[in-house]
Amino acid sequence: MIDKLIIFDTTLRDGEQSPGASMTRDEKLRIARQLERLKVDVIEAGFAASSNGDFECVKTIAEVIKDSTICSLARANDRDISRAAEALKPANSGRLHLFLATSALHMEKKLRMTPDQVFEQAKLSVRFARNLMADIEFSPEDGYRSDPDFLCRVIEAVISEGATTINVPDTVGYAIPELYGNFIRNLRERIPNSDKAVWSVHCHNDLGMAVANSLAGVKIGGARQVECTINGLGERAGNCSLEEVVMAVKTRKDYFGLELGIDTQQILAASRLVSQTTGFVVQPNKAVVGANAFAHASGIHQDGVLKARDTYEIMRAEDVGWSANKIVLGKLSGRNAFKQRLQELGVAMESETDINNAFIKFKDLADRKSDIFDEDILALVSDESVAHSNEQYGFVSLSQHSETGERPQACVVFTVAGKEVKGQSDGNGPVDASLKAIEIHVKSGAEMVLYSVNAISGSTESQGEVTVRLQNSGRVVNGVGSDPDIVVASAKAYLSALNKLQSKAERVAAQG
Ligand code: KIV
Ligand code: ZN
Repeated sequence: MIDKLIIFDTTLRDGEQSPGASMTRDEKLRIARQLERLKVDVIEAGFAASSNGDFECVKTIAEVIKDSTICSLARANDRDISRAAEALKPANSGRLHLFLATSALHMEKKLRMTPDQVFEQAKLSVRFARNLMADIEFSPEDGYRSDPDFLCRVIEAVISEGATTINVPDTVGYAIPELYGNFIRNLRERIPNSDKAVWSVHCHNDLGMAVANSLAGVKIGGARQVECTINGLGERAGNCSLEEVVMAVKTRKDYFGLELGIDTQQILAASRLVSQTTGFVVQPNKAVVGANAFAHASGIHQDGVLKARDTYEIMRAEDVGWSANKIVLGKLSGRNAFKQRLQELGVAMESETDINNAFIKFKDLADRKSDIFDEDILALVSDESVAHSNEQYGFVSLSQHSETGERPQACVVFTVAGKEVKGQSDGNGPVDASLKAIEIHVKSGAEMVLYSVNAISGSTESQGEVTVRLQNSGRVVNGVGSDPDIVVASAKAYLSALNKLQSKAERVAAQG
């Protein structure tokens, strides 16, 4: 019998709870498609009852994605559960994920419920959910800080009611690997019906140990599901990083002895897609997906790797999707070559029209930039997601003038609900002038909380990728734009953020 580790990705739910990482439905669907290509076992697509927008996201993903199980989070009450079950109706394979806090602190201060009330609600909610769906996951929120005796009582009851997966969250990232592993092992040993459910780990990274804790939960505790996110995206310090857990289990199969269903060659495309969509840049020295993860700068290391790769490399860069040939396309490349490269990069376009639009943008870029790298294509495709014709604001053109000793001036032409408008302004620099030229018309009143520029492929010939984070009335959104001209990239990023601010989606943040 295969001893398999189930990979449960929660980028679209827990990852999205990170301030500024909220995604549109199209963006979520694009990421879900990539997660399916990555062959994750379970995709937590959202928290259906939290807003109509999230309900639609879960439903759309359930309609489109057929190879992975689609899951929705739900508080342990009938309304949330019914709503989640409704959104999951189109799924080939659906899962309801119920959560209810069990730590003394959360029960008393947040829920204002007694332990007996929590026990009853947990039991009844699973009973209710089980009538709607066969695959039920139950999470005692803040489980790691809960009293083990009480936790045993609750978990035994929910398994008896039909919960098929028991997830033990370290909601606040307080655990230490050995202690967390032992905590799960003790629960499994003490609960008489523990063998009737799959055990799962869900670790936050507040002390930088989410991956280590998750792996200890697997090795010491016997968990067979890991909940994680691409690039470790998530609230505060983030969640357990999918790419690190997967590559640890794969590279050290001698130690873990577990099978994985993941197609690891799709990891890098997933990482880039999530980073470009959310504007959360991956640090260069990040394990597995950072730009330096496979770069050998020191002479001794380079010499060693050239003589025998395994002197300094424990994984092959190709196995996680890094390709050896960096320059991929140019001005003369045709539509078929472009389409094929999109496929190799794991980018699925919904229709021939989308491919054509992306190809036009590619040609435009190739006219202005001699070599097109994978990073350029991925940026261009994610730009597609913010430039849909149904968006409120769209970039058209920009001119600006700056000279030493003079105050820079900018003129930006953009569309508002399809109609062209022109804004003009001066500013401290050309970027400042351009964004002010837009703001003069839009009057969003939003506060800019982050502005960052990243050279996509590392040189001055590269495109600049700009992230703008705006905050308004308690909402935080990211806009990303790319262009060889960083002033233009900035204007695109600003318009993209304004589009997101404009979208109505109101969220009731999930807890945890
Ligand atoms: O961290 C947490 O406790 C959660 C639960 C909702 C599973 O995200
Ligand atoms: Zn969480």
